[in-house]
Amino acid sequence: MTADGPVAVGSMRDVVQQSDVIVCCGSGGVGKTTTAAIIGMDAARLGRSVVVVTIDPAKRLADALGLSMGLSSAPQRIGGVGVDMGAGGEMWAMMLDTAATFDGLVRIYADDEQQIDRILSNRFYRNMAGAMSGTQEYMAAETLHALHNDNRFDLVVVDTPPSRNALDFLDAPGVLSRFLDHRVFKLAMLPTRSGLKVFGSAAQPFFKAIGRVVGSDVLADSMAFFQAFSGMETGFRERADDVVALLRAERTNFVVVASPRHDTITEAVWLAQQLGDQGVGVAAAIINRVQPSFGVIDVPTGVEVPGASRDVVSALWKNLGELQQIRRAELEALEPLVALIEPAPIALLPLLDGDIHDLDSLDQVAQHLFLERNRC
Ligand SMILES: Nc1ncnc2c1ncn2[C@@H]1O[C@H](COP(=O)(O)OP(=O)(O)OP(=O)(O)O)[C@@H](O)[C@H]1O
Ligand SMILES: [Mg+2]
Repeated sequence: MTADGPVAVGSMRDVVQQSDVIVCCGSGGVGKTTTAAIIGMDAARLGRSVVVVTIDPAKRLADALGLSMGLSSAPQRIGGVGVDMGAGGEMWAMMLDTAATFDGLVRIYADDEQQIDRILSNRFYRNMAGAMSGTQEYMAAETLHALHNDNRFDLVVVDTPPSRNALDFLDAPGVLSRFLDHRVFKLAMLPTRSGLKVFGSAAQPFFKAIGRVVGSDVLADSMAFFQAFSGMETGFRERADDVVALLRAERTNFVVVASPRHDTITEAVWLAQQLGDQGVGVAAAIINRVQPSFGVIDVPTGVEVPGASRDVVSALWKNLGELQQIRRAELEALEPLVALIEPAPIALLPLLDGDIHDLDSLDQVAQHLFLERNRC
C-alpha cells in the first residue's frame, strides 16, 4: 500500500496463513460478517484453529454459523457439515456480547465481591456498558485480546461494528481511559479517596448545576458508579494499552471490505487512508457482491437456437450483455481503491442469487477468496 504500515504480506493466502489477528472493517451492510466467516472457513481449511467473532450477524448467517441457538457469546465449534476442514483445522464462532465483556473486565479488576456488586448493579453502569459510544468497539477489541491469549486458537478473525471511521475501532480502547481521566470524574471520585463527605465543597455548585440538567437520579447513579469504580482505573488503562498494542502488532492485519459501487469504494478509500495515516495499513481488500464473470463471450447477433424462439434467444443475449456491462462498470468503480492499496491483494467475491444462509453458500463464496481477480 502506498501509506506506510506493517504490511509484509503478498497474497490473500499469506494474510490468512501469517496473521494472528485479522480485523474485517468497512461500511454498513457490505458483508463484513460474511467475509469474516469466509476467512475463518479458509483458515480452518489451511489447518489453523480459528475463532471468528461476529457482531450482530444477520439471522440467516447466524444460523449458518450455528450461533442462533441462544446466540452464544462463548466460542462454539462449528462442525464441518458439508465442508471439509481438512489438515486438522478447527473453526469456532461466537457473538460479541458487549455488556457481558464489560462485566468480565469489572470482575477482573475489582478488589472484592462487594465492589463487583456495587458496579454491576449500578444503573448508570448498566446503561453505559451497552450504550456509551465506542463501548462496542472497545469490547470487540477486548474480546479479541482475550481470544488471542486463549491457546485453543491461533487465529482470531474479528468482525467490526459498521463504521465509516476506522479510528472508532483503533481508538476505542483510549476512549474509556480518557473518560476515566476526565476532570469531572476525578472530582467525583475525590471525596471517597480522601475520606471526606460525598462532594468536596468546591465541587458542590458544579454538581448541583449538572444535577439540574441531567436529573439528580442520574447524577447520583453516576457518582455512585465512579466512586465504586475508584481504584480500578489503572487496571483498565493498562489493559487498554495492551489491547492497543495488539491492534498494532505486526501479525494483526486489517482487511477492508467494500461492495463494487462508487459510494462504498469512496468510503473504503477513506478508511484505508485513515488506517495508513495511523501507520496500520491495509493488508488486503475484499470486494463483495461483484457481478460474476461469465468468461469472455462476444454477444453475437442473429444466432439461431433449435427449439427456442428468436425473441427468447436475443433477450437472453441482451441480458448477458447487460450483466457484462454491469461487471465492467463495477471493476471500473474499484480502481481508486486498487490504486491506493496495491500491491496488497484484492479478492472479488461474487454476488450469489440468494442470501447466504448455510455453510454451503458460505463455501460457494469462499472458493473465490484466493482466485485471481479476473476469474471471480
Ligand atoms: N456475496 C453475497 N451474495 C449474496 N448475499 C450476500 C453476499 N454477501 C453477503 N450477503 C448477504 O448480505 C447480508 C449482509 O451481509 P453481512 O451481514 O455480512 O454485512 P455486514 O457488513 O456485516 O453488515 P452490518 O454492517 O449490518 O454488520 C447478509 O444477509 C448476507 O447473507
Ligand atoms: Mg455485520
